[in-house]
Amino acid sequence: MDGRPIGVFDSGLGGLTTVRELCRLLPGEDIVYFGDTGRVPYGSRSRETIVRYARQDVAFLRTFDLKLIVIACGTVSTTALEVLAQENPIPVLGVVAPAAAAAARATRNDRVGLIGTQASIRSGAYEALIHKEDPAAQVFSQPCPLFVPLVENGRFKPGDVVIETVAAEYLAPLKAAGVDTLVLGCTHYPLLEGVISAQMGPEVTLVNAGAEGAWAAAARLAELDALSGRDGGGTCRYFVSDRQEDFSRLASIFLGWDVTGAVGQVDISRY
Ligand code: DGL
Repeated sequence: MDGRPIGVFDSGLGGLTTVRELCRLLPGEDIVYFGDTGRVPYGSRSRETIVRYARQDVAFLRTFDLKLIVIACGTVSTTALEVLAQENPIPVLGVVAPAAAAAARATRNDRVGLIGTQASIRSGAYEALIHKEDPAAQVFSQPCPLFVPLVENGRFKPGDVVIETVAAEYLAPLKAAGVDTLVLGCTHYPLLEGVISAQMGPEVTLVNAGAEGAWAAAARLAELDALSGRDGGGTCRYFVSDRQEDFSRLASIFLGWDVTGAVGQVDISRY
């Protein structure tokens, strides 16, 4: 048993979809969350910049005595997981492998759609892992660079004409390809589930990378015999690199509960 907290980070709010699932699965675990809200989005940046930002995020999180870190960000998982896992003495897990495995299990016609940030799609990491699990799978990928800024600005609800128009354009080629499974390869996208599912139709299975990452982290902790051993009472501390007020308001929507305690502000350039 291990009572130390789990560290979770993302470029912004998206990783809260992983936190939400972790809290549901493991209510007795303490969590420290960092959202790099001052530098979001990561997905349009170069590999070098993403690795540099991710190293700083991990360096901040490691000022806490953590037992495991979850990269609750598709972009960092596709681009910097190996580097971070090598450089740190505690387990560092991403969301890509668990989401790829879930997609391979879910598809019945071997036609899998993938949406993610430009950096994630460019990396080819999801495709490689889906093929590893299901060599017959054809993967149709589509970068969706406008999704993250729209979600971070609260534009994710069905009925919002801006997000619906953007989604229709991004998803049209995947619909035309006849995919029966769609990987939401960025942890911001589960907020768009309503909009995406309305466009793709009920017969398309959506794979939520944020939730898959949480399930994989819970399984790894159990394997390592590193769960806290508590049934409830876990706490969650939040830190961001930009205004705390904006974060608290939107975070409540991502999490499905109010962020009540103080949110810390971090000068991430110091790490
Ligand atoms: N949530 C991040 C991801 O999963 C968003 C990336 C970004 O900041 O562009 O990819």
